[in-house]
Order: sequence, then C-alpha cells, then structure tokens
Amino acid sequence: MSASVSPDAREARVNLGLQQLWYPVLASWQLGREPRGIQRLGQHIAVWRDDAGGVRAIEDRCPHRGARLSMGCSRGDKLACWYHGVEVDAGGVVTDVPATDQSAMRGKKILRSYRAEEAHGAIFLWFGEGEPPPLRLPEQLTSDEFSGFLCTAVWRCNYRYAHDNLMDLMHGAYLHAVSHSMSGGEKQARMEVADTPDGFLFRKTDQADLNFDWVEFLDLDAHWMRTTVPYGPEAGPGGPFWIVGNVVPIDEETCQVFFWRLRRVTGWQRAAWRFLYRTRLELKHWNVLEQDREVLEGLVPAARQHETLYSHDAGLVRLRRFLNQAATRELEKIP
Ligand code: FES
Ligand SMILES: [Fe+2]
Repeated sequence: MSASVSPDAREARVNLGLQQLWYPVLASWQLGREPRGIQRLGQHIAVWRDDAGGVRAIEDRCPHRGARLSMGCSRGDKLACWYHGVEVDAGGVVTDVPATDQSAMRGKKILRSYRAEEAHGAIFLWFGEGEPPPLRLPEQLTSDEFSGFLCTAVWRCNYRYAHDNLMDLMHGAYLHAVSHSMSGGEKQARMEVADTPDGFLFRKTDQADLNFDWVEFLDLDAHWMRTTVPYGPEAGPGGPFWIVGNVVPIDEETCQVFFWRLRRVTGWQRAAWRFLYRTRLELKHWNVLEQDREVLEGLVPAARQHETLYSHDAGLVRLRRFLNQAATRELEKIP
C-alpha cells in the first residue's frame, strides 16, 4: 500500500465509489425534460434533457443561496432556480441573475458539470477529472447478435455488497435454489480466478453451464460484470441467458443496480425471446433479484468487518484488492 494514502482515506473512497469512472445513473425512461435531482457517489446532481433530448447534468445547488436547482425549471440547456430565478447553464456557468443587474455571479462558472452519455437504455455520467475516455460497453450490449432488456432497482445496501454478490458463484445453488434457472448443479465446487484482457474471470473448475458457474469483472473505465445462467428448452431460443451488470453508489448506504438481461438471438428468434421475456420470464427474474436484494439489505451492520471467508470467496477478495489499488491510485493524484 502507498505510504501517502491512509487506510481510512482509501476505505472512504472505495465506499462512496471510485471517481475516475463512468457510471449508469438512471434508466433512460426515468428522465424527461424537467430536471430531476439525484444523488450518486454522495454527490447531488441535477439532470435534465435539453430541447434536442440530450442529457445535461450539473451540481444540484443554486450558487445564490443553495436551493436545489432540480426544484426549478428547465430552459433548454439551462436551469432556472425556483427561489429567485438565477439561471445556470449546462456547463455550470451563471447566465442570468434576473433580480438584480449588479451580481458578480453572472458569467462565472461556479458549479461542477458532468459529461453525460446515453446508451442501451441508460444514462451514464463521468465522475472523474478532466476529459473522459469514451464510454465503452461489453460486447453483449453493442453487438446486433444480442437482444436484451434493462432492469434497474434501488437496493438499500452499500454498492460493494452488490459487487460481492455478483462475484459469489455459490449463492446461485442456495439462495436461488428454487428459481427456474438455478436449480441445477452441485452444492459444492472448486473455483479459480484467471486474468482476462480487461479484468478477471472467476469460475467453477468442476462444473460449467449448470448454474451460475462463472462471472467476469471488466474494467472499461466503468466497472462491468457479466455472466450467464443456463436456460432450458422451455425458455425458447437463444441459448444461455446473459446478464451484464453495473452498480452505482447513491450514498454509503444505498445503490442502484443495473442489469441488462440478454440472449444471442436474431430474426424470428429475437421476436420470440422478447415476447417470452415480457410474458413469462421477466417476473421470474424479478423474483430472483428480489432474493438478492432481501439478503443484502438484511446483512448485519458492517458485515464486511465480521466475515470468515473461505475459498469460494476468492473472487470477491480479488475484486476488493482491485478496488483498493484503484482507490489508492486516485488518491495519490490528489495534490
Ligand atoms: S437560491 Fe437560487 S436564486 Fe436564490
Ligand atoms: Fe443472485
């Protein structure tokens, strides 16, 4: 560990979310023209759509006396504060102070602004310093061969528990044992971690394609996880069910999970999959996700400090080490 970064500072950074990253912050359908106040990584952000439908995001704080700009109204690429009408543009610059012509605020950049991108049904913001790298998505989201649905939910737990849950292969055979897709496979397994070009893979070495048997963590300037669970013939065409996940911290106690649920389908198979998902499979998947949410929201306080891990937890140990190292690098760059 770096001598210049204290364990407490590193822990605080990881707990609230690494900052040199893109995160999904809302599903596209959750945002319209009127501003919406959200909290992500502990930061209050006003998000809205301009006249062309583009996403804009600035710090949610009026520079005059601190009203939430998200309580005001949108004027295209600006927001007008509800309290006394101050206008701020999408770059965080005060463009008008209608109550007086003697304010020093006018023309000044006072608020932080965030770069936004919209892709695959979600709105992503860049939380880092400087010019962001391009938003990169796992190939299951960009390839025409896949078709999927975004499912998102707020969980009342620190986002790291949602991460850990995705790195926890064995819970499929227990927590989800009565689900339609994870009732097969052994109740014991051997596991290994292996490097991949963009991250690492955690997999069972003595079982494949029977349950939740592998997961990959990808660092693409956003932290992604992907995995498959098997689907029987009754679930229609397309082979295994892909899950591509990303989690954004809201604050230290809450997060929003994003799961894209996909299959490799084209042509008529795509139509069949989309029909089957909407009519038969979606509810089953929500039930599985609710099992995860219930157990994570019910973890004892400070659960991570009272663990007794065993070899099946090697994936989450690797992920925690990765996040700690990334947090140290971020903090070392702070002058
Ligand atoms: S607090 Fe916003 S204009 Fe006064
Ligand atoms: Fe699960």
